[in-house]
Parts: sequence; C-alpha cells; structure tokens
Amino acid sequence: AMGDLLILWVAVGISCATFSSSAWSVNNFLITGPKAYLTYTTSVALGAQSGIEECKFQFAWERWNCPENALQLSTHNRLRSATRETSFIHAISSAGVMYTITKNCSMGDFENCGCDESKNGKTGGHGWIWGGCSDNVEFGERISKLFVDSLEKGKDARALMNLHNNRAGRLAVRATMKRTCKCHGISGSCSIQTCWLQLADFREMGDYLKAKYDQALKIEMDKRQLRAGNSAEGGWAPTEAFLPSVEAELIFLEESPDYCTHNSSLGIYGTEGRECLQNTHNTSRQEQHSCGRLCTECGLQVEEKRTEAISSCNCKFQWCCTVKCDQCRHVVNKYYCTRSPGDTLGVCGWRLSHLSHRR
Ligand SMILES: *[C@@H]1O[C@H](CO)[C@@H](O)[C@H](O)[C@H]1NC(C)=O
Ligand SMILES: *[C@@H]1O[C@H](CO)[C@@H](O)[C@H](O)[C@H]1NC(C)=O
Ligand SMILES: *[C@@H]1O[C@H](CO)[C@@H](O)[C@H](O)[C@H]1NC(C)=O
Repeated sequence: AMGDLLILWVAVGISCATFSSSAWSVNNFLITGPKAYLTYTTSVALGAQSGIEECKFQFAWERWNCPENALQLSTHNRLRSATRETSFIHAISSAGVMYTITKNCSMGDFENCGCDESKNGKTGGHGWIWGGCSDNVEFGERISKLFVDSLEKGKDARALMNLHNNRAGRLAVRATMKRTCKCHGISGSCSIQTCWLQLADFREMGDYLKAKYDQALKIEMDKRQLRAGNSAEGGWAPTEAFLPSVEAELIFLEESPDYCTHNSSLGIYGTEGRECLQNTHNTSRQEQHSCGRLCTECGLQVEEKRTEAISSCNCKFQWCCTVKCDQCRHVVNKYYCTRSPGDTLGVCGWRLSHLSHRR
C-alpha cells in the first residue's frame, strides 16, 4: 500500500510545473490509497510542496536551483545521486511534512491530535508557567516519519543517508521552535507570564536548513559499496556508520558536480540563460554574487537586457472609495548568463571556423 505513496511524491514533484496534474494525482491517490492514511495525505502532499517551494526560494540564485527532476524522493530513480543537494531535498521535504501536520494539529484539523498541553500549569522558569497551545511536534514528527521514511526502499548507504537527512529535517523543525509568552499580572505588570512553544516561520526553518546544507558533512565510503546502489549486496552499511553526534547535520556521500554545463544524462540544466542579479541594493550576499557564480565562474558572460516595465504609480484615493493610479513605464535592467560571442558554436563551431579560415 505504501507503494502508492510514490505516486503521490512524484505528483508533488511535478506539481511545481503543472499544478492541475498534481491535484489530479493527489485525488487519485485519495481514492485508491490505504484508508488509515487518508486523513493525512492531503496535508502530507501540501507539506512536501511547501518544502519544495522553500527549496526553490533558498536556491533561487544558486547554480543548482532545486529543479523538478531532482525532487523524486523514491529509490526507484536509478540516477539518484547522494550529493549535498540530495540531502537538502530530503531534509526540507521531511521538515515540510512535519511542519504542516503539526500546524494542522494546533488548528484542530484532525480529530486525534491537538495542542501539546502536557506541561500546562507547570513552572517553566523564573516568572513563567507553561500555558496556552504548544505546537504538538511529536505527532507531526510521527506522521512525517511514517510517510517520508517509508519511501526509502533500499538498505544501502544511500538509503541510510536519506533516512538520516529526513531525520535531520525533522530535528530542524524542533530546533527552530520558539517560546512565545503572554504577560499577566495587575494592569499588565507582567509579574507572571504564560508561555508555549511555537513553530518558527517556515522561512526561518528554511534558513536554518540552508545553513546546515552549507556545513554538510561528507561521509567517506568505499566506492564499491556506493556503486552497489540498490542491489542486495549494497545492504552492508550499519546505522552506526552515521554517528549520533552528527544527528542534526546533513550528510552526503558524493561530491556535487559544478552544475555549470548542461548534462541531460545527469539531469543538470546548466546555467546558460539563467537570470542573475546585479546593481541591486539591499539584497543578500547570495544574490549579490549571483552573476559571478552563475555566469563568469561558469565561463559565461553577463548580458544586460533592458526591458520596460509598467507599474501603477501616483495612486490617489478618491472619495469614496476607490484608488486611481497612473500607469508608469520605467526601464528595468536585467542580467542573464550568455555564451561569449566567440563561443557561440561551441567546440565544433570553433573547429569549423578554423577550417574555413584556412581556405
Ligand atoms: C492542513 O493545513 C493546511 C494549511 O497549512 C491546509 O491547507 C489543509 O487543509 C489542512 N489539512 C486539513 C485536513 O485540514
Ligand atoms: C555528462 O556526465 C557524464 C557523467 O559524468 C559524462 O560521462 C558525460 O560526458 C557528460 N556529458 C556531457 C555532454 O558533458
Ligand atoms: C532592506 O531590507 C530590509 C529587510 O529585508 C528591510 O527591512 C528594509 O526596509 C530594506 N531597505 C530598503 C531601503 O529597501
């Protein structure tokens, strides 16, 4: 029955491109899936989707930008890699599912879970007691584990890596939780507070996992064992290989390619044609270096394209009650990675032009 989940996950992956087909697949699953899980499937799919959207946000200005073809979590994909990027996808998807289910619990969306009120009334620390609705991460964790981990069919090092990173994602949800408090006491004196534990914004959790991605640990493995892939003889690696001391860290087995050049057999799009950011103020360090990273460091040049944008401006409030705006045109410069002029035909073109020169 869990095999049906593969359909769901593939659907979630595809849905970034075509939402309607995803909706169809998810509904299809709802009809055919195991009954016990029906309650959660929609939320699981939504959670995985929010993980994927976060992945796309976090990597928007990186060479690898969380493309659809990387999003299959199932072990059926023989091209499946074991890179740092794979580790992030697993962690953020698993976290997304846990996050959404947990929120659902606090909202009272499911009959069998709610807020975690187990500590309510107890003293938490100096001047505060537990109270209110603490997010029930345990339940979300359980459902996420049930759904996401069950996609891992292999017993090899890759499978262990994925399970580890799924777990690291769930730990990230816990690690970013925040204590939120409300003041009580005579006229808001705040002599006593009640506090509860709340999930961080999903973005904050994404930032946290992106930092984990930057510091991800490479686990050295025997190449032979790695290549054994999903075959039976790959069933060697003991769980202990991935030490508990790194339980919250993302781990990977293979170095990443540089993601510069298109390689369809590896499912890499390359950075040619990608937009990058230049002369923009108030952007993150990632964004400021995007043209270097995407274009010049990949042997491409940065091409400026002037485009005209139309937007509303000079808006006035009119009595009563509309807002009237002018349409203003302004020039926007956009930057793209393009092949250098001498390089337009690639290696073969270069040879041809040399031949024609000799004539
Ligand atoms: C769970 O929460 C999401 C929004 O976070 C919502 O769209 C979905 O409908 C909820 N699930 C249920 C079963 O209510
Ligand atoms: C794509 O990657 C594979 C494996 O690394 C390599 O053998 C092949 O030459 C590459 N293809 C291109 C077009 O670069
Ligand atoms: C710069 O960004 C910060 C946070 O992203 C925002 O609060 C601030 O208003 C921005 N400043 C300008 C000039 O856009």
